[in-house]
Amino acid sequence: MKLSAFGSKFAGESGIVELMDDLSSALLQNPDMIFMGGGNPGQLPAVEAVFQRQLQAILADPAQRHSLFGVYQAPQGDPQFRRQLASFLNRQFDWGLGADNIAISNGSQSAFFVLYNMFAGVMPDGSRRSIHLPLAPEYIGYGDIGLGADFFSATRPGIERLDEHLFKYHVDFSHLQEAQAIGALCVSRPTNPTGNVLTDEEMTRLDAIARSRDIPLIVDGAYGLPFPNIVFTEATPHWNDNTILSLSLSKLGLPGARTGIVIAREDIIRAFTNANTIVSLACGNLGPALAGPLFDSGDILRLSRDHIEPWYRERSQQTVRWFHEQLGDLPYHIHKPEGAIFLWLWFEGLPITSQELYQRLKQRGVLVVPGHNFFVGLHGEWRHQHECIRVSYASDGEAVRRGVTIIADEVARAYRAG
Ligand SMILES: Cc1ncc(COP(=O)(O)O)c(C=O)c1O
Repeated sequence: MKLSAFGSKFAGESGIVELMDDLSSALLQNPDMIFMGGGNPGQLPAVEAVFQRQLQAILADPAQRHSLFGVYQAPQGDPQFRRQLASFLNRQFDWGLGADNIAISNGSQSAFFVLYNMFAGVMPDGSRRSIHLPLAPEYIGYGDIGLGADFFSATRPGIERLDEHLFKYHVDFSHLQEAQAIGALCVSRPTNPTGNVLTDEEMTRLDAIARSRDIPLIVDGAYGLPFPNIVFTEATPHWNDNTILSLSLSKLGLPGARTGIVIAREDIIRAFTNANTIVSLACGNLGPALAGPLFDSGDILRLSRDHIEPWYRERSQQTVRWFHEQLGDLPYHIHKPEGAIFLWLWFEGLPITSQELYQRLKQRGVLVVPGHNFFVGLHGEWRHQHECIRVSYASDGEAVRRGVTIIADEVARAYRAG
């Protein structure tokens, strides 16, 4: 098979492909595998019941059923859903949005493919621009999205050590200024993999830097602000006409519906829609049909506040307690859990790499993600990159507890063997 440059890059190995392969194949190899690797949301009965009722109502009505299955959506996404979303957001934040500030995509992952390649890569004058990640580590799924090489650049974080084996990454603004030839800044907030939530002040400063360079600030809000609000700290949702905010219905409990939402200035939305139409033709109808009424009624806030946020907060606190109990006085650090569905563990001075730790844990029936995959765009060696793992706490609680015990045992063994 003779592949093009595109084919070679996209059909080859990549971090995200390895992760998704692991997820699907691990269960076949070992039915008892403990899944702490993937990004699946937790199963929350109260939330599932809402979607089930809505789906039943749609199926019982022939006209709605036909709209769900039998028609292509407008390229930008269902106008009614976009109006519902715009009014919902305006009621909350007074952002002055209209339906034309919103486009729907088949999951936010595919929206990032289009958006990132719109702003970075080879420019019309032959120069190159990168997507700059002001705070590495960042979401593994960005890593291989660029059509060209050297697509990302990143700034190494500042590390604040906190009490009780906790730490927190901060944007290192003194080094961020050094980034050259960038087409956009991008952060996930809350951050996958760390559970960090960039502070309002950090967002204000990033916004000012993006404006001063005449590039957009892309904010990936898959876990949070304003919904599904898996945020355990005070943080204000951020949007303005230089921000591209990407949201998703996935972590609300609908990853199977593949619905992403892009909120931006009208000219950016038009450009995005044109490109997305070439790639996708139209987006799926299921997500908008299930979630639209929740935005109309405002129930999305109630669900997020009363069910989703407390569930993940409880889970994260419990999992941290289990790690404290099991890791004892080993030299470990946990990123302060401020949101999202993961813990980020840093084993300082670990004698083996996180990749080796991942392999050993997989042998023992626990799937995590080794940390080096998340340092997208960061150049130069930094031992820290090989000392971290990402652990999801969204699956069955008892399985998570067993997983924590096995992780701690394997880490202790690695330190002992020196
Ligand atoms: C930070 C972040 N952004 C985007 C995505 C993609 O989500 P989806 O394509 O399901 O909307 C994920 C999925 O895990 C994520 O963690």
